[in-house]
This record gives sequence, C-alpha cells and structure tokens, in this order.
Amino acid sequence: MPQALDELFSDKQLKRDSESLQRWGCDRTSSFDIAPSAIVFPESVAEVQALVRYAKEEGVALVPSGGRTGLSGGAVASHGEVVVSFDRMNKILEFNATDRLVTCQAGVITQTLQEFAVEKGLFYPVDFASAGSSQIGGNVATNAGGIKVIRYGLTRDWVAGLRVVTGDGELIDCNQGLIKNATGYDLRHLFIGSEGTLGFIVEADMRLTRQPQPQYVMVLGVRQFGDILKVLAHFQESVSLSAFEFFSETALQKVIAHRDLQRPLAGSADFYALIEFDETALDAASRAFEEVLANGWVSDGVMSQSQAQAAALWQLREGISESIAEFTPYKNDLSVRVSQMPGFIDDVDALVRASYPDFEVCWYGHIGDGNLHLNILKPADLDVTEFFARCHEISPRIFEQVSARNGSISAEHGVGLLKRDFLGYTRSKSEVAIMQAVKKILDPAAIMNPGKLFQ
Ligand code: MLT
Ligand code: ZN
Repeated sequence: MPQALDELFSDKQLKRDSESLQRWGCDRTSSFDIAPSAIVFPESVAEVQALVRYAKEEGVALVPSGGRTGLSGGAVASHGEVVVSFDRMNKILEFNATDRLVTCQAGVITQTLQEFAVEKGLFYPVDFASAGSSQIGGNVATNAGGIKVIRYGLTRDWVAGLRVVTGDGELIDCNQGLIKNATGYDLRHLFIGSEGTLGFIVEADMRLTRQPQPQYVMVLGVRQFGDILKVLAHFQESVSLSAFEFFSETALQKVIAHRDLQRPLAGSADFYALIEFDETALDAASRAFEEVLANGWVSDGVMSQSQAQAAALWQLREGISESIAEFTPYKNDLSVRVSQMPGFIDDVDALVRASYPDFEVCWYGHIGDGNLHLNILKPADLDVTEFFARCHEISPRIFEQVSARNGSISAEHGVGLLKRDFLGYTRSKSEVAIMQAVKKILDPAAIMNPGKLFQ
C-alpha cells in the first residue's frame, strides 16, 4: 500500500475502504476481479502530475477513472493499482462564444456540457444513454460514439484541444483550440481513444455547434434483419438523418419490461428501426415511409407528434443497455463499412443462431454508421464463468467474419481488458508494434493503465 499517497493527497482525496475500492475500481463490466489498492481524487493538474511522477519513481500502476460507464474493462483495477478518479476535477473552466469552445476539466459530466451548451444557445451533439454519468475525459479517452454519429461524428470530431499528463508527469498542451494547425503530428488524436495508456487527459477544449431544428422520431417495424439496410438506404436518398438506430424484438421486450414502457406499434416485428430527422425533412420522411411500407420492408410505423413523444420513443432504444444488464450480457461491439453490412449481417446472424441455440440473443445498435451491438444473455441457471468461457469460444468465429471484411472488433466500446486478446483481428502486427513503441515513449515506466489495449 503506497503510504506516500497520504503525503500527496488530503484525507478527503484518498480512499482505501473496501466499499470505495469496489465502487471506483470498476466500470460496467462484471467479469473481472476488482482489486485496487487505493482511490485518489486529484483536484488540479499539478496534483495529477505529482502523482504520476511519484508512481513512475515507485513503479506504481495507475488506472484512470471517469464515470465508470465503460463496457470493456478499460477502467477496471484488478491488480492493486491506484485508481485516479477525476470526480473532483469537474469544472467548466472557460467558454469562448467567438470560438464556440468550452474548456472542461476531465471530470465534467457529458450531460453538464450538453446543458451548458444549451444555456449558451449552442449544442454539444455527442450523445448516448450514459450521458448523465459519463465524463468528458473518459469520452475522449475512448473516442465515444453514440446515437448521433451519422450526423455529427464521434467525440474526436469535437475535441479542439487537449491537456494531457504523460507517463513522465509532463503536461502536454495539444492543438490549443485551433481549427487549422499544420505543424506536424497532431498528438491530440494520438491521445483520443488511447484508453489512458499513454497519458491522462486532464482538460479538453470541446467545440460546440448551432442548435438543431426540432427533431422528429419514427419507429418502424421491419420484417427481416437485412431489410433494415434497405430502409436505411431508401431514407438516405431523400432525408438528411440525424440518427438511424435499430433493435430486435428481444431487445424491445427487455426494455419495455425494465422501464414499464408501451409497445410502439400495435403488432410486433422481428426488428425495429428508429429514425430521427429534423423538421425540414418532415415531408420527405413521410414519403419515404409510405414507400418502404409499399415495398414490404416495413410492416407498420409511428412518428412522434411532440418532443415528449420523441423522447418516449428514444427511451425504447436508449434504455436497452441498462435493461439487459441484469442478464450479465456478453457484449460484442462490431463494425464494418455500411456497404459491407448486408453480407456481414447474414453471416453473423447465421453463426449466432447456430452457436447459441440455447441463449437469448439481443441485437441493437447504430446500424446507420455500421456499428452492431450483439449481446448474448446469460441463462439464469448457468454459472457466469462457464457462460463467458462458452462465449469466448465462439468469439473468434465472429471476429473472423469481422476481419474478412476489414471491420472492427470494437467500434465504440474500446478494447480495455475484454477485447485485448482479440486486437489482432482488427489491427495488424506492425500496427500493434508501433502502438507499443509509442507507449514506451510516452509511458516509459509502464504505469499508465497497464495491461489495457495490449499486454
Ligand atoms: C448503446 O448503444 O446502447 C451503448 O453502446 C451501450 C451498449 O451497447 O450496451
Ligand atoms: Zn452503442
């Protein structure tokens, strides 16, 4: 137990009781041991630097921790690491209306940034179900995606500047909020998505944009998996979409039961598409709906008549992850190019049906940007270790399908511990070797979230 932490941090900034170790030592995964040695809550950049310098000197492994909403074990501390929580670095430091930039400490909650933007008459568009507890530092460290990617892109697209403490305890100021900056390697992008393995993000300059028009939401019942893509292509011919999500009937049943919601349509369908667009596209979207209905791809549909109804329809999609948590899901977060999606869906769906005949399978995701979430649910009477072992046996076969199409084994959840051993399906040996070499430069003592991403 590193006693020097008591000199670096006050009593209220340091926790060692077992309840706190369990609480801050994990994310939303449930299959890893949780065994940190301490949790620290720095309040300034200087404190983070002092901690990292101490950790480097003593060879103490550090695990960064944000809102702990991750799904790949990226923020799990299993080996006596010191967890560095950014809960106390949660201030919005600066706003510049001309630049439309907000400077956030790493621990600012996503929803706080979204609400701050609205107060300023602007919009922070990256959004997902965990916006109420995830933190900006974690979003940047995992390049979080979410439900508006087809219109607004990923977290990466909204980061204008970053301050990062590297494994040497140095503070690097990347890009300073500039739009144009052609002066060599853009280190900002190296840190985005690096899962805290190269440095800890302490501040981020986040870009804001104009507020969108009022949004309309449609939920359509789709007859077959493959037809969802036909519906997507058809809408995209005439409608500028801000979201195109999908979920299966199993997913719908789980969320309805969990949140006590109403079914969106009178009957049921095997799959549902949730489509969002703004007011200006209302006529085009209504026409597209009539056409997909006439083509037989869609059995029925509903469109929001108010912002409250739009929010209620979104709940059907956004509540799924939380509603299946009690089934200890084995999560897959796969992506391929949208053009590759039809064959990919057919092959993976066939594989899943053959491999998991006795398990409930729950599909949902951001199909508009090529990202599918495949969740295998644990039967209540099956031991969790046995369940995960069985799923791990099948995973390589799914990842082979991903790899054959040059897709990704983790589209937006990160690699962490969960996907570490499968990284080779998406990244070549040379790429991994380069990543490891970069890590050696920025984290020479291997103390920054060690064991995540790769060994
Ligand atoms: C989602 O799309 O709902 C999130 O990525 C969380 C999840 O996949 O469970
Ligand atoms: Zn997702």
